[in-house]
Amino acid sequence: MSLFACDKIGLQFPGRPAPAFSCISLAIETGDCLHITGPSGAGKTSLMRVIAGLTKPTSGRIIARPKRIGMAFAEPRLIGGLSVLDNLRFVAPRSTSEAEALLAALDIAAFAKTPASSLSKGQAQRAALVRALLVHPEVLLLDEALSGLDQSAWALARSLIEEQHLRENMAIVEITHDVSRTVSRGGKTLQLT
Ligand SMILES: Nc1ncnc2c1ncn2[C@@H]1O[C@H](COP(=O)(O)OP(=O)(O)OP(=O)(O)O)[C@@H](O)[C@H]1O
Ligand SMILES: [Mg+2]
Repeated sequence: MSLFACDKIGLQFPGRPAPAFSCISLAIETGDCLHITGPSGAGKTSLMRVIAGLTKPTSGRIIARPKRIGMAFAEPRLIGGLSVLDNLRFVAPRSTSEAEALLAALDIAAFAKTPASSLSKGQAQRAALVRALLVHPEVLLLDEALSGLDQSAWALARSLIEEQHLRENMAIVEITHDVSRTVSRGGKTLQLT
């Protein structure tokens, strides 16, 4: 059975002249990799929010939804007043040692006790990726989530994601403007226009 499936869904924001996207039918299976592409404003983030269950489509039908989703966006959305580790404990209270191991794998273990508000963008994006992986999602949603990383940090992030993908059959849905930085090479592509 699909983790996520939808039939001819569309999303029309009130007062907008055109829908954010329309007539999309999609199935995401265990272990799938899906790359969503298209120009700015094509509806990529809107579709991802629907897959995440954050937004309801205004037409069509959702047939299946995953139980556990991990999400990371270009904007890391950490709780600024909490330390990095407390941000992670917030989503996975019993996984402190795993959180520390993931921070180390992304070369940011030294920032575990640092307030999230004082991280650089790339450090915050790595912490947000750890937060997404810690819930052991069935589907990992990445919306330009690694855009602030330099090449070596990106390579670390990619291998961490790939490990979890291979070990746990986690599906990956990603949006990136830089095709050379696609985490999930060789999967399906959904082109929005
Ligand atoms: N909350 C909202 N209210 C009204 N319109 C919205 C809202 N969110 C997005 N839109 C509109 O929906 C369309 C698709 O936006 P979306 O953010 O999904 O595009 P995108 O493909 O992710 O673009 P980008 O590559 O720039 O991130 C745009 O025309 C946008 O203005
Ligand atoms: Mg977007």
